[in-house]
Amino acid sequence: MSDSRPIGVFDSGVGGLTVLREIRHQMPAEALIYVADLEHFPYGPRSQSQVRGLALDIIGTLAAMDTKLVVIACNTATAAALNAARERFDIPVVGVIAPGAQAAAAGTRNGRVAVLSTEGTRASGEYVHAIREANPGIAVLSEVAADLVEIVEDGDAGTPRAEAALRPVLERIFDWRADTLVLGCTHYPLLRPTLARLIGTRRLRVVDSADTTAARVKRIVAVNRIGADAAPAPDSESLAMRTELLVTAAPARFRTSAALIFDEPLPEPRTVRPVRQVIRVASGS
Ligand code: DGL
Repeated sequence: MSDSRPIGVFDSGVGGLTVLREIRHQMPAEALIYVADLEHFPYGPRSQSQVRGLALDIIGTLAAMDTKLVVIACNTATAAALNAARERFDIPVVGVIAPGAQAAAAGTRNGRVAVLSTEGTRASGEYVHAIREANPGIAVLSEVAADLVEIVEDGDAGTPRAEAALRPVLERIFDWRADTLVLGCTHYPLLRPTLARLIGTRRLRVVDSADTTAARVKRIVAVNRIGADAAPAPDSESLAMRTELLVTAAPARFRTSAALIFDEPLPEPRTVRPVRQVIRVASGS
């Protein structure tokens, strides 16, 4: 049986496209809808309850568009909203923290893992929890780099601006003797070439959750038998044909930054108004 309903993926900006790109690679038959919540970008400095509300609005909007599964392709929103979303919605909701944490726990040799994330993700403690859930013997260093998300969103991931923001954080990570670095924000995989330059010949394994999250999505789709038919027709293989791009604001800015991530034509982003989710408070009656 084939289920042609789309998979929904969202983030505050372009970062989640690193996850979408990997889902597309591993599951080429699936139609995808991506939402960038640029009206509320960045999520990192916001409170957990604010991010939870924003994320639930977007998941509700994607659910109303008949998606069969939603990926919270944002660590900050995963930390704030994954549990609430799973309670509220009937469709499977997948986050990005557990896949990256498990990959790091499996890969470290000296038991010292650094996590680079937004302030919101660090404050949630979710990475420390997920890594220690996988192996309670691992020591975790939680680091935040100022402005990194904005640098990537501005399309400056490969510039001296990015190097200047990363250099002091990397030095702290080396001083602490981590052998593994988790990119705990979906914007950060776009910094990999700059990171590789700064790391040079020193030993540091860099882990992100894009491919492990895509693998998890693939497994969930298979187990629940909600996969689309095998291969799409050749003329519908392009990103433009199989993917819908939505933004809550700033479509032109999104188009420019997204074009740096894909070397193929993109669909034109459309602006969407998220459906406000009504938070039901028990009345006691
Ligand atoms: N990509 C988001 C994350 O993974 C960015 C957060 C932000 O908007 O600050 O956390």
